[in-house]
Amino acid sequence: MTADLFEAVPDLRPSREAMAEGAVLLRGYAKPFESEVVAALREIIARAPFRRMFTPGGHQMSVAMTNCGSAGWVTDRSGYRYDGIDPDSGLPWPAMPRAFRGLAATAAAAGGFENFAPDACLVNHYAPGARMSLHQDRDEQDFAAPIVSVSLGLPAIFLFGGAKRADKPKRYRLEHGDVVVWGGPSRLFFHGVAPLADGEHVVMGRQRINLTFRKAN
Ligand code: SIN
Ligand code: FE2
Repeated sequence: MTADLFEAVPDLRPSREAMAEGAVLLRGYAKPFESEVVAALREIIARAPFRRMFTPGGHQMSVAMTNCGSAGWVTDRSGYRYDGIDPDSGLPWPAMPRAFRGLAATAAAAGGFENFAPDACLVNHYAPGARMSLHQDRDEQDFAAPIVSVSLGLPAIFLFGGAKRADKPKRYRLEHGDVVVWGGPSRLFFHGVAPLADGEHVVMGRQRINLTFRKAN
């Protein structure tokens, strides 16, 4: 009843919100890609299931991860790195689906970054309570390319700070279909995700999935 009522209210949020120089939130940008992206995601997960990796310090992450593309982000006791091989299967990560590449490239262009050709897509799975502490994405070879982050499923509070860890992060509520693009002057800004609130999403169920596209090599 309450949910139906909210869905009947037109979305009055601005579709484009500047977050910092080089960073923009594109609300609902992934919606037209939804069915293709969700179908491709299912295939990726079937071939490279989610797993909770360990940090170099030996802590198991609350977020479960997998990858597609020629480079996959992995962490274990020896450190963080990009690897073309899924350590769980010994096989290459699933190829980056066309729909993923198209979404990432057009979103990047909408954010002011033309010709984005990601070789890595980290797929993050948040169950209720899962979180990601503030960090920089700095395992890539070249920081000229932006980061494109696609949110699916349950809403999350995205924390977007500045160049220094101590910079107080702003909080953005990211919903199903929202895309964040950051690069240029904000490419190395600290960011994270607050513990996921419980809920049930009509398409994705009791979870949030985030696709993070990067040019790793
Ligand atoms: C990340 O920084 O890798 C994930 C961001 C998110 O889940 O929104
Ligand atoms: Fe990140």
